[in-house]
Amino acid sequence: MGLLNLLLLMAMVATNILSLYHLSARTFQSPRPPPPLQVPDHLLQQLQTIRAAINHLTRQQPSASSQSKPTIPSDLLLFSRLSPIASSCHNHPDLLHKYMTYTPYSPCPPDSDVAESLILRGCHPLPRRRCFSKTPSKPPSSLPHNPFPSSFSDSNIIWAQYSCKSFSCLAKQTPNLGFDISAEISKFMTYKTELDLPIPQLLQISKSANSVIRLGIDIGGNTGTFAARMKHYNVTIITTTMNFNLPNNEVVAIRGLVPLHMPLQQRLPVFDGVVDLVRCGRAVNRWIPLKMMEFMFYDVDRVLRGGGYFWLDHFFSKGVDLDKIYGPLIWKLGYKKVKWAVGNKTDSGGLKNRQVYLTALLQKPVSR
Ligand SMILES: *[C@@H]1O[C@H](CO)[C@@H](O)[C@H](O)[C@H]1NC(C)=O
Ligand SMILES: *[C@@H]1O[C@H](CO)[C@@H](O)[C@H](O)[C@H]1NC(C)=O
Repeated sequence: MGLLNLLLLMAMVATNILSLYHLSARTFQSPRPPPPLQVPDHLLQQLQTIRAAINHLTRQQPSASSQSKPTIPSDLLLFSRLSPIASSCHNHPDLLHKYMTYTPYSPCPPDSDVAESLILRGCHPLPRRRCFSKTPSKPPSSLPHNPFPSSFSDSNIIWAQYSCKSFSCLAKQTPNLGFDISAEISKFMTYKTELDLPIPQLLQISKSANSVIRLGIDIGGNTGTFAARMKHYNVTIITTTMNFNLPNNEVVAIRGLVPLHMPLQQRLPVFDGVVDLVRCGRAVNRWIPLKMMEFMFYDVDRVLRGGGYFWLDHFFSKGVDLDKIYGPLIWKLGYKKVKWAVGNKTDSGGLKNRQVYLTALLQKPVSR
């Protein structure tokens, strides 16, 4: 079965290659008749071999009872013939197979942790499945007029997948991660150190620059507190957030805000130049590989309109790296420095590694 696995893998890679050829052929618009599709002979030959193998494989699959156990879930085979799956999914066949092993048309297995693991490894979008995912039995019946209630209702969450089984447990065990409303309520509204940029000040800055903030993205926004605050000022913020054993996405939704379940390495799913603000919270920090961060910053640039703002909020790194690596990376964007505040990170890890926080508000040039 190992060989067949490998063949399937090659087939999927090849399907991707072929779809690229189709794509480039289609985008090559010219008044003359389009040039013939140039697929190299050796690739065609490979494709034929792979096609034959995949046909063999799929024909063989239903009679899998003769083998000890089928290795490739049938819905994975089916889905990958309909739509090529991103290559980073194939780097984790064990997880991918686990995720796609289910009974179609029945309840999905309780495996959101598997989905989360795959997404975190860059397998995004995940393949679709034909099963019913479980939802809480008591759907909300009123609008969330207050995104900072004294408590959220425990019945809004399916707790089976989390180690905590209630919001009070989360507030206690994960302080400062967005579940303790008494702490959330003052966030983005107070100025304690130079590293803070309260929302009223942010809006004042944009107003005096004759620029309006209507729409923004909060990257790694936990439970959506920034979006909740901005909604009060009639600004729409979409929050990208992963769950990491915490019901972040669910809470953003409970608050009537938009949760995007996507990893940091994915291209932002909005068109060029459509947002006025991108904020990066502490999820964006020195643990992200440098090249990946560079691609991310340029994607932020892509989605920002001219004159839009890029806000790095409490970005942390080693002090020396900020000067030598991250500073120059940020300057390469050619943005106007509206705010640039650096302060020591004073927790034990920060002191030990001589880390600093940077809070920067940068404005994209209107034209290049
Ligand atoms: C937000 O919009 C509402 C309804 O249009 C308006 O009454 C309110 O004053 C606005 N709030 C702010 C802070 O602009
Ligand atoms: C920050 O830490 C460095 C040592 O890592 C120290 O020299 C500097 O004075 C500190 N700055 C402040 C404002 O405390």
